[in-house]
Amino acid sequence: MMTDGTKENPVMTLDVASAILKRRATKNFDAGHRMPAGDLDAILGLARRMPTAFNIQNWRFVAVSDPKLRQDIRKVAWDQPQVTDASVLLVLCADIKAWEKYPARYWENADSSVRDFMVGAIDQYYRGREDVQRDEGMRSCGMAAGAIMLLAESMGYATCPMDGFDFAAVGKLIKLPADHEIVMFVAVGKPASEPYPTGGILPADEIIFENTFGA
Ligand SMILES: Cc1cc2nc3c(=O)[nH]c(=O)nc-3n(C[C@H](O)[C@H](O)[C@H](O)COP(=O)(O)O)c2cc1C
Repeated sequence: MMTDGTKENPVMTLDVASAILKRRATKNFDAGHRMPAGDLDAILGLARRMPTAFNIQNWRFVAVSDPKLRQDIRKVAWDQPQVTDASVLLVLCADIKAWEKYPARYWENADSSVRDFMVGAIDQYYRGREDVQRDEGMRSCGMAAGAIMLLAESMGYATCPMDGFDFAAVGKLIKLPADHEIVMFVAVGKPASEPYPTGGILPADEIIFENTFGA
C-alpha cells in the first residue's frame, strides 16, 4: 500500500545538493535487482508532497512491475533497455479532469469558507480552458519527476527520465483512461555501469536573467 509520505521513511544518505550533482540519466541498470516495496512507497509517498496548483494532485503514477508488460512497452520505446532492466518503471500520467472530480476533497482540512472559495476558484480557473488543464498536468508531473529522481538518488538508486516512446501505444498498454495523458517515464534502479561524462552545461548568462530578457 502506498504511503502519503508521513510514515517512517528510509534514511536519505545525500543532502539535496549532493543528490542533484550525483543524479545522471542512467542507461544501464542491473536487471536482476528487485526494489523493496517500502522503498517505492517512500519515494512516491514523499514525491506526492510536492506542490500542485490549487492542490488538485492531478498526477497519477503507474508502477509497471509485470515483466511481459515491460517487454511490450520496450518494443514501443525504441528498444531502450532501461524500460525492462530498471527495478521499477514509473509512468507519470496526468488526470486532465482532476480539477472537476469532487474538488472539495482537495481542501477537506480547510475551514468550510476556505473550501468553498477554493472549489469556486478551481472551477473558474480551469473550466473551458483545455490547454491550461493539460499544461497543469505537465507542470505537476514535472515537479514529481524531479522529486522522484532526487529521492531515489539519495536512497542509493539511479534513474532515467524518459519520453522516448510511442505515447499512444503505451497508453493502450497501460489502459490509460480517456481523460488522462501520459507525461513521461522515470526508470528507477541500481546502475550497472558508470555514466558518460555530463554532456555540457550552458553558460549562466544564456540561462539566467535579471528582471527582463533585456532590450
Ligand atoms: C523529459 C526527458 C526525456 C528524456 N528521454 C530520454 C529517453 O527517452 N532516453 C534516454 O536515454 N534519456 C532520456 N532523457 C535523458 C536526457 O538525455 C539527459 O537527462 C540529458 O542528456 C542530461 O544528462 P544527465 O541527466 O545525465 O545530466 C530524457 C530527459 C528528460 C528530462
